[in-house]
Amino acid sequence: MRDCFELREVDAGGRIGELRIPRAGVTVETPALLPVINPNLVTITPRRLAEEFGAEILITNSYIIHSTEGLRERALADGLHELLDFPGAIVTDSGSFQLSEYGEITVTTEEILEFQHDIGSDVATPVDIPTPPDVSRERAMEELETTKERLELAETVDTGDMLVNAPVQGSTYPDLREEAARHTDGTDLDVFPVGAVVPLMNEYRYADVVEVVAAAKRGLGADAPVHLFGAGHPMMFALAVAMGCDLFDSAAYALYARDDRYLTVRGTRHLEELDYLPCSCPVCTDHTADGLRELPDEHREEALAAHNLHVSFEEISRIKGAIREGNLLELLEARARSHPTMLDGYRTLLDHTEVFERSDPVSKGTFFYVSQESARRPEVYRHHARLERLSVPGRLFLTEGEPSDADAYDASWRVLPPFGPFPRALSRTYPLTAEVPERTDRRAREAAVEGIAGLVEGNPDGEFTFGHRGWSADVLAGLPESVETVDLTADR
Ligand code: GUN
Ligand code: ZN
Repeated sequence: MRDCFELREVDAGGRIGELRIPRAGVTVETPALLPVINPNLVTITPRRLAEEFGAEILITNSYIIHSTEGLRERALADGLHELLDFPGAIVTDSGSFQLSEYGEITVTTEEILEFQHDIGSDVATPVDIPTPPDVSRERAMEELETTKERLELAETVDTGDMLVNAPVQGSTYPDLREEAARHTDGTDLDVFPVGAVVPLMNEYRYADVVEVVAAAKRGLGADAPVHLFGAGHPMMFALAVAMGCDLFDSAAYALYARDDRYLTVRGTRHLEELDYLPCSCPVCTDHTADGLRELPDEHREEALAAHNLHVSFEEISRIKGAIREGNLLELLEARARSHPTMLDGYRTLLDHTEVFERSDPVSKGTFFYVSQESARRPEVYRHHARLERLSVPGRLFLTEGEPSDADAYDASWRVLPPFGPFPRALSRTYPLTAEVPERTDRRAREAAVEGIAGLVEGNPDGEFTFGHRGWSADVLAGLPESVETVDLTADR
């Protein structure tokens, strides 16, 4: 039984949770963003992160501290919190990323875990192997074995009340990711980062990120806190949260600032191309685009980093609000319009809609149909599954329009795209209170037809008439042959 993480609220695969970090004496609300601090290259000081941005947790690299003499000694003597001057929780990485970039590092898992413990880290990381995407299956399996051995070794190190990360690797092989996740879930380690996704995100391969996370989630319990290692672009936070990721770390805010890149929830802009600043954070209210460009290099970098952090934290708050209100998927539908590859990511997430259906609340605010993708949401899936179990009274009139009082029918049910048919008594229950555009699209109608087909299949003795408003023959072709159709607009 894992006792450091508790779920408070759920929407689709997204959740608000509480991560208790005993060594720091704090409980962090998730989804949480961990700014990355490079101890050799501080753009925004950790003190400022806490006071100005409300950061409760950050992540730094113990390997950099270990291999930089002055830092190592001070960290050992005064502790990490004093070294960085940060009052909240500190997560430390192990040098695995350096391993993947430079091919080797000079510490073992045992050494670096003990070092992380000695300097007062609150959440430590073993030396996992970040196997890149698309490598041979043999390599992915071999490196995964090594990662597993190191996690098992980590279990034997005396880490006291420090939490320990158990990264999930396995490259782009979903079955290996799932197996890796099952293994890490079986250890007594605490937090479960999905690793080696940075190369996928750098190439905008969001569909692959979704497949990798979905596979990892299949192998992890619902109570496992999941960190998406290296995910720092606010454009993709809603996607990652909807998949069930709880923690993010952003180096992007500082790295992008260094290259004059300005983050927005709709993507990245170069400062050069901005005439207006589409943001009202303190930096953007104090400066014009020209004003930012004219700042001396160091000030400009700091100002851009601060803006980048503001939009990142703002997006995390917006996402939490959306989970609370039950409209995370509507937020995600908007974010998915930011870039075609984000739309691929969202569509891939919807391939797993039956998984989210299991955790999605039965009742929320109001379902908004805002894109064709809405037709694939878990609520629609759930209604269709329910239709197959509903029994109908003899002769049934199904209609988009007003109920028929013709004696020919025993009852008249409403048809609402994309859900399909339902007894009018359910009209005021979620999700059938949905707001749907007057001008329904083909995908919504097709989904409604699938719903009718399910109802008919579950009621082989029923008699069905569908009164529609000018639906095309090829959409209606999805209906079982036994369903009679009437075009209600034909005789106006
Ligand atoms: N930072 C980004 N990706 C990774 C990863 O796969 N493992 C570790 N330890 N750190 C990372
Ligand atoms: Zn701003």
